[in-house]
Amino acid sequence: MIKISPSVLASDFSRLGDEAKKAENGGADMLHLDVMDGHFVPNISFGAPVIASIRDKTSLFFDVHLMISDPLKYAEDFAKAGADMIVFHIESDSDTDETLDRIHALGCKAGIAIKPATPAEEVIPYIRKADMILVMTVEPGFGGQSFMPETMPKVSLIRQAAAALGKDLDIQVDGGINYETVVTAAAAGANVFVAGSAVFRSPDPAAAIGTLKRNAEVKSIG
Ligand code: DX5
Ligand code: ZN
Repeated sequence: MIKISPSVLASDFSRLGDEAKKAENGGADMLHLDVMDGHFVPNISFGAPVIASIRDKTSLFFDVHLMISDPLKYAEDFAKAGADMIVFHIESDSDTDETLDRIHALGCKAGIAIKPATPAEEVIPYIRKADMILVMTVEPGFGGQSFMPETMPKVSLIRQAAAALGKDLDIQVDGGINYETVVTAAAAGANVFVAGSAVFRSPDPAAAIGTLKRNAEVKSIG
């Protein structure tokens, strides 16, 4: 199933609650919340209190992308803030199995993200246990970057590995997703699409969400 997850990183932070509602009314399936600690990535965004502050402004599924060095330590804060899914990086300092278990024990879905230079083989052993795999299509840390097509073979490899296990795995792509690159990523096997600039910098976010979804559906294999 195709899902669009607008990233609030490109939204107006002074009106975050309204922006979340705008995504919901525009047909978004999830809301992507990018948490950056200035250590795992060279940028700082926002943390759990900001997420908690908009939890009652929308009923959207909260897809929380932790770009932080120690996701195991902070998972509980994000679960309490209202995360529905917590996605952490395999390149972080936390143990992958332990972090997956902790997130599940907190009652959230758990996803694992890989940076552009990390091989698909590193995440494939966790496909059975994870609810989603996020293949970064830019270097994490900033919105508005260009999509890296060289990451697409990893999406296909992960899709094949999931199919071999008989698992209808969610595979998310994040970074530089627009009306064209969404087609490329869907053709490779992705089915969950993060879009920051393409949605929130559009004059008509609802139309942008609709177009992204339709374009992905044309090429979807997931
Ligand atoms: C990048 C973030 C992305 C970012 C995407 O580190 O993980 O979620 O907000 O922004 P766009 O869609 O503008 O590339
Ligand atoms: Zn993200």
